[in-house]
This record gives sequence, C-alpha cells and structure tokens, in this order.
Amino acid sequence: ENIGTVVFENSTAASKAVAKEIADLIRVKQAQKQPCILGLATGSSPKGLYAELVRLHKEEGLSFKNVVSFNLDEYYPMEPDSVNSYVRFMKELLFNHVDILPENCHVPDGLLSKENIADYCEQYEAKIEALGGIDLQILGIGGNGHIGFNESGSLKNSKTRLVALDHITRVAASGDFLGLENTPRTAITLGVKKIMEAKRVILMAWGEGKSNIIKASTEGEETSSVPASYLQEHNNATFVLDKEAASKL
Ligand code: GLP
Repeated sequence: ENIGTVVFENSTAASKAVAKEIADLIRVKQAQKQPCILGLATGSSPKGLYAELVRLHKEEGLSFKNVVSFNLDEYYPMEPDSVNSYVRFMKELLFNHVDILPENCHVPDGLLSKENIADYCEQYEAKIEALGGIDLQILGIGGNGHIGFNESGSLKNSKTRLVALDHITRVAASGDFLGLENTPRTAITLGVKKIMEAKRVILMAWGEGKSNIIKASTEGEETSSVPASYLQEHNNATFVLDKEAASKL
C-alpha cells in the first residue's frame, strides 16, 4: 500500500532519474561531511543506472570518495574474477570508473569456506549497522519476486545468509553460465531485514516480462511467496518502472 510507483517512457530516462537522486544524496552527505551508505544490486536492471553514475563522475565531477557500498548478493561458490562474479560485475560497471575507495566497496565473498559463512554474514550486517544503516538501497526484482537472492519463502526478518537458489532463478541465470549444470545452486544474500531497514528503497524493473510480478508485489497481498511485496510496509520505497513493466497496474 505504501509503495510509490513512478513510470517512465523508457529505462534510460528512469535510470537517469534514479542516478540523479543518488547523486543528490551523495552531495548532501558530502556537505554534511558524512559517509553515504549505498546498497547496490546486480543483474541487468541497474546497468543503465551505473552507466549514468559513471557519466556524472566523468562529466559533472560527482565524487564517490564518501560512498560506502554494500552489494546485495553473490553466487556461492564464486571466484571474484570469474565472468559471472558480482565482484567483477561491479568493478566493470561502476567501481573501476569512479573514485570510490576500494576498501569502501563490499560484495559478499563467494570464496568462504562453508563453516565461516555464518560469522561472515553476521559481520557484513555489523559493518552496515556500525555506519548507521543503508541510506539508499537499489533493488532489481526476480521474475518470481525475489529481492537480492531472497527467494520465495524468505521471512521478513531474515538475516544475511547462504540460500538455495530457486530452480526458476537458476534457469534465468543458466544462459550466463552456459547451461543449468554449471549454474550455482546457492548464493549469499543480504537478508530481507536489512533491506527493510534501509532509509530509502528504489526497486527498478523494465519490460513486459516483469509486469505480472510488479502487479503482484505492489497490489497483491503481502506474502513471503513474493518477498518484494514486503516493501508495501516500507515507509519510503519507490518502484521505478518503464511503461511495459507498469502495464498491468
Ligand atoms: C538476480 C539478482 C537480483 C536481481 C535479479 C533480476 O537474481 N541476484 O538481485 O534483481 O537477478 O535480474 P535482472 O535485473 O537481470 O532482471
């Protein structure tokens, strides 16, 4: 009920508007001599946003020196320099092209040994808490309504953890991995709780293929089977959509 939806003509215009909001926030925090804590996402949906942030850095002098970023998720296991690693994705699309400090960029570690994952996840959340929480969280949405890799059934108070990927999520990713048999079965994801604690949440979705899940998330009942529907209870969440993703609303 609380989710605002903003519909743009196309994803380029939408991505520019989101980049503008992020740039404004970074500058406000700079003026206050405060760090700006961004929750970042991967997938195809935020690519235009990162391209625009890089442009704002190169052409308009936007500095990322005060930005501390925490990515939502990473496949497990995953080598950081592998083609499908979210570490590599973030470096290639954003981190390598702006002046963010490497030590301020956090992406869940896909190389941990199993027995260390729980402690690592606790520390990941503790780092976010020590900085006062996430100022602005960027999200995409899976076709099944997942946010980060919080699949159907994830609880609203779920913590950062190792999760099993849904079959449908693995099928969606299988093209990148050259076949389902090579696609990871598990991932580390920020839990729903930390996402819900972010002061501002922007979920981006493009295309007709997302239209049903956007309707279910915004107008359907709040349910663990569609984790994005939890955002109905967030007091500052906006779904930024193109016309096609919004076509069933
Ligand atoms: C993956 C990511 C999610 C992302 C989703 C949608 O599952 N872990 O964070 O939201 O894909 O991807 P896309 O933006 O490519 O549709």
